[in-house]
Amino acid sequence: MSNLLTMNQLTNEEIHAILEDAEQYKSGQGWKALDTVFVSNLFFEPSTRTRFSFEVAEKKLGLQVLNFTAEHSSVQKGETLYDTVKTLESIGANAVVIRHQQDHFFDDLVGKVSIPVINAGDGCGHHPTQSLLDLLTIKQEFGQFKDLTISIHGDIRHSRVARSNAEVLTRLGARVLFSGPAKWQDPLNTYGEYVEVDEAIQQSDVVMLLRIQHERHEEKASAQDYLQQYGLTKEREKQMKQHAIIMHPAPVNRGVEIDGELIECERSRIFKQMENGVFARMAVLKRALQQIEQNQEVMKHA
Ligand code: CP
Repeated sequence: MSNLLTMNQLTNEEIHAILEDAEQYKSGQGWKALDTVFVSNLFFEPSTRTRFSFEVAEKKLGLQVLNFTAEHSSVQKGETLYDTVKTLESIGANAVVIRHQQDHFFDDLVGKVSIPVINAGDGCGHHPTQSLLDLLTIKQEFGQFKDLTISIHGDIRHSRVARSNAEVLTRLGARVLFSGPAKWQDPLNTYGEYVEVDEAIQQSDVVMLLRIQHERHEEKASAQDYLQQYGLTKEREKQMKQHAIIMHPAPVNRGVEIDGELIECERSRIFKQMENGVFARMAVLKRALQQIEQNQEVMKHA
């Protein structure tokens, strides 16, 4: 079963294979699904990039897409996530892509449904496909991960991107630094060393910014002075290494974690990350579905 739930379930070899497949898709080649394969996208939390790049990826692969919105479904009548996925499986979905506000929502599904589950972001937990598109972007820039210094800035504690990326980047040989307000440090994320913002920016090959995850805070955080205290200002951008790049999973809060004028500056790879998201997700879907399709083919010829 080729679920994709967290980055730490993937071996380094599997990660490199997914990145190679993504590059192939970017070059216009790669596996294409039969048009009898159905994928359902279940988004219980808002999303622009992940949702639409999955849909574009699915359509480029020739898959049949079943889009689901919680507000127009029987979730409104009290149906559980398990019953929703079991229903989609029963009526012919071959895989589900799920974004959910609950950390580890997939614990209710694994071992109980027989179709692959792809995690498109679980609460403060994990965001493996964001991590893969980030790895693809870094690899395109530097060719490898070993000995790179990558600083992740901002609301570390509530960021599933920080969690997924810090683990895998460390495993692939990069050095991870964290920077941001002390109240948002994450005692459970031990893959990075906390340093002061200017030091992090000066030492980094990749400066990765995060938005403040207001929707996961109990008290509303103030964005006043955040840019000057913790963000990427134009003055700090001038302190970056000559070859260093700026990344951000987006959505971006202009003028909060990054000066608005830097979003499309020469160093920024923010929109390239989004473009890469389609190819990384095509590779993830291929990994999830290829076996199913082979089984269907075998049954057809039995
Ligand atoms: N980076 C990301 O997950 O963006 P969306 O919330 O728009 O999908």
